[in-house]
Amino acid sequence: MAAGLFIGLMSGTSLDGVDGVLFDAVRLAVTGHVHTPFAPALRDELLALNTPGPNELHRAALAANAVARTYADLVAQLLEATATPRGQVRAIGAHGQTVRHRPGGVEGYTTQLLNGALLAEQAGIDVVCDLRSRDVAAGGQGAPLVPAFHRAVFGAAGEDVAVLNLGGIANLSLLYADGRTGGFDTGPANCLMDGWIARHRGAAFDADGAWAASGRVHADLLSALLAEPWFALPPPKSTGRDLFHLDWLDTKRLPGLAPEDVQATLLELSALTVAQALQRQMPAASRVVVCGGGARNGALLRRLGELLAGICVQTSAVHGLPVDQVEAAAFAWLAHRFVERQPGNLPAVTGAAGPRLLGALYPAWV
Ligand SMILES: Nc1ncnc2c1ncn2[C@@H]1O[C@H](COP(=O)(O)OP(=O)(O)O)[C@@H](O)[C@H]1O
Ligand SMILES: [Mg+2]
Repeated sequence: MAAGLFIGLMSGTSLDGVDGVLFDAVRLAVTGHVHTPFAPALRDELLALNTPGPNELHRAALAANAVARTYADLVAQLLEATATPRGQVRAIGAHGQTVRHRPGGVEGYTTQLLNGALLAEQAGIDVVCDLRSRDVAAGGQGAPLVPAFHRAVFGAAGEDVAVLNLGGIANLSLLYADGRTGGFDTGPANCLMDGWIARHRGAAFDADGAWAASGRVHADLLSALLAEPWFALPPPKSTGRDLFHLDWLDTKRLPGLAPEDVQATLLELSALTVAQALQRQMPAASRVVVCGGGARNGALLRRLGELLAGICVQTSAVHGLPVDQVEAAAFAWLAHRFVERQPGNLPAVTGAAGPRLLGALYPAWV
């Protein structure tokens, strides 16, 4: 068995589907990538399960089965596309689908739907999943878990580098020149823009940010959105659809605004909250490496470039990792950490009481 080969499976808050990579943990390199969209009915159900509703236990179990089958199909495609026998893969690091994220306090928990047993059964490969719960159990946010991986791949000696992942939610990893690593969520990246364009135009996302670019930022709406107390909280902090959803937007929205102006304002909110967080937490940043699907939003990247004038804004592709492979690679890397019995979290990032071994193992044993 090749000791260094792992699969990473990531499906984030955007609910656009699953990114899967074959990852060489020795070379820190991706050797294959497959994206599978969720079936529309599953996507709708996962979205619905983000908010309290009837018969949740049963519906969550069915959705967890469906997520496992989607993941298993992707694994089969990935192995076929890369001509890799499954016996060569040491383990799968599988994120699951977050439907609740409520870290903190004695009642803290985080829920990623995935039937790990079913995935192990179908894939015939060891599965490491439920990667966030242990950090939450240790008093942490359970997020972000990617900064340690970002440090390993994008860290540069003598330079303050930030890594910005623009998924449904935006998160920053701060790789300080002196060796410290920070990381936290900054707020919505795509989730509100996705929801708004879906409601008004029936599109899954605002391609290249073109619709947002056709509107004008509305100053009063922007102020109302920025007044959300979560933005002013200091790190460590994480968030998700629990807070940032269309109902939240509807409570702030002023009547009579043109839909494209709302979209322009949502794009401005994403860019501004990232820029403000970066200026506060890493004022000497020389470079921002951008990844996630939002890196394909030209209008968002242009606006970030304006707000971060003087800082080099580049995508992860410059470093050999295409923007839609970084997060999945991070979960392959976390599976590697688990297998090596090495901690995956950074307590300074998540706020956990200490380093912890992250994940639960469903052995293949076939
Ligand atoms: N061409 C594009 N133009 C604008 N936005 C895009 C484009 N491609 C992808 N996106 C955005 O990226 C999101 C998916 O990003 P992803 O990194 O997979 O997020 P998550 O990890 O939350 O699933 C989509 O929902 C969409 O908002
Ligand atoms: Mg995604």
